[in-house]
Amino acid sequence: MGEAEAPLFRPANVAVPARELSLLQFLAAIRSNALRMFPRAAYEVDSTTQPFLGRTRILLNAPEAVHRVLVENHRNYRRSRASVRILRPLVGQGLLLSEGDEWKWQRRTTAPAIAPRTVPLLLRHVASATADAIARLGEGTHERVDLLAAMQTLALEIAGGSMFSIEMGQHGPRVRALLAEFGLHYSQPHLLDMLLPRWVMAPRDVARRRFHRRWMALLAEMLGSRLAEPASVQPRDLLDLLLAARDPDTGRGFSPTQLQDQVATLIVAGHETTALALFWSLFLLASDPPAQAWLREEVGPLDLRPESAGAAISHLVRTRAVVSEALRLFPPAFTVVREAIAPDEAGGVPIPTGAVVMIAPWVLHRHRRFWNRPDDFDPRRFLPGAPPLPRLAYLPFGAGPRVCVGAHFALAEATLVLALLVQAFRIDRSDAVPVLPRAVVMTVPDRPPGFRLVSCGGAMPVS
Ligand code: HEM
Repeated sequence: MGEAEAPLFRPANVAVPARELSLLQFLAAIRSNALRMFPRAAYEVDSTTQPFLGRTRILLNAPEAVHRVLVENHRNYRRSRASVRILRPLVGQGLLLSEGDEWKWQRRTTAPAIAPRTVPLLLRHVASATADAIARLGEGTHERVDLLAAMQTLALEIAGGSMFSIEMGQHGPRVRALLAEFGLHYSQPHLLDMLLPRWVMAPRDVARRRFHRRWMALLAEMLGSRLAEPASVQPRDLLDLLLAARDPDTGRGFSPTQLQDQVATLIVAGHETTALALFWSLFLLASDPPAQAWLREEVGPLDLRPESAGAAISHLVRTRAVVSEALRLFPPAFTVVREAIAPDEAGGVPIPTGAVVMIAPWVLHRHRRFWNRPDDFDPRRFLPGAPPLPRLAYLPFGAGPRVCVGAHFALAEATLVLALLVQAFRIDRSDAVPVLPRAVVMTVPDRPPGFRLVSCGGAMPVS
């Protein structure tokens, strides 16, 4: 990497509308590419407020407003009805969508199973799954590799295989096919998903319910053989930790259905997000060869084999900075949406009952007031000794009590996988066609770009 004034890589971006969209334009944008819904002013001001289907739609950027909604008065805000309708078929009654006391209980019971102290147990699995993926990627011609698909397969292998010891070679393709079907047919929000009260079935909910039954049947099949194994004294994986998990106050554990919903939640919430963090990191490095060479200086000499991975992770400072910067430029969860239960005021902005409140990592991470060179790829922002990050303006994992429960594991996983890949290959783009971000459920590329992998011949770098 060059000096402070050196040119930085600036990834292509969607066209930003000059002014606020009409309702029809807004509805079209959230169905095709939600990143197009934010007008230029959104990246410059503290908040915007718009009428929205008889309610109010509010975008909050100021740190005190974000703090009010996600931390201080979080009980007044619940997940939006469209999010619940769309996600329920995938995650059932698990942690992501539960509310109130039920959420508190699930969170207290699940969080220790993914706490930082259990991460080394999981990293050993991550390193060996990545070694297998590298061996597969090393076969064949390497001339046009689809690294998006490769990262999705690997992240699913890690989510199912490493967290739950489920044989993903057999189940993985069916899981991916069902999730792809979901993405294609059930994930776009429709007008009625937003309009109808929670307790009324929207027309698409019927098909979503059918999907839910098929998805849960597949999960039951996947979990069946694993649960039939004799119990182990030492926890082997996250499933053993969840089976043993008890509410610290009541001693209550998960019922079989709750366990299944929790596994579905952790697989769904954890694998596509992490795959995208990896994809965007690889895309940025392939587009910025000096940054890739700078990263290879760090990973080249390290021993990242499964038995050493847990200890090596703290040395991957540049690698972690690249992942963090990829999560800034392309946060997989581009908005965190809430519905106000009762009136409130957040950072001086009145929030009426029923208001749809958006806190958008996509906007916050590129906000003109908070960041220097907001559209440029500069991992040095995240190196130790860099100026402190702007308060509550970097939220790839959300904030407050509902912050991502898997954040620590996700960062460690993405950092280790990226380091192993950069150690094994020089990664180039195989074409020069611009790639644009697109968001419906998550921030994905508008097309899967091709990459060319050049083997580094073992651990040693070629730059
Ligand atoms: C780079 C990867 C990831 C990103 C960007 C990400 C992002 C997020 C965000 C933004 C939220 C908060 C949503 C909100 O407040 O509305 C969240 C919640 C959650 N995430 Fe993640 N996540 C990632 C990886 C993971 C992993 C690996 C797991 C599981 C092992 C996981 C499980 C969850 C769960 C269960 C919740 C709901 C927590 C609650 O409501 O209490 N995530 N995630």
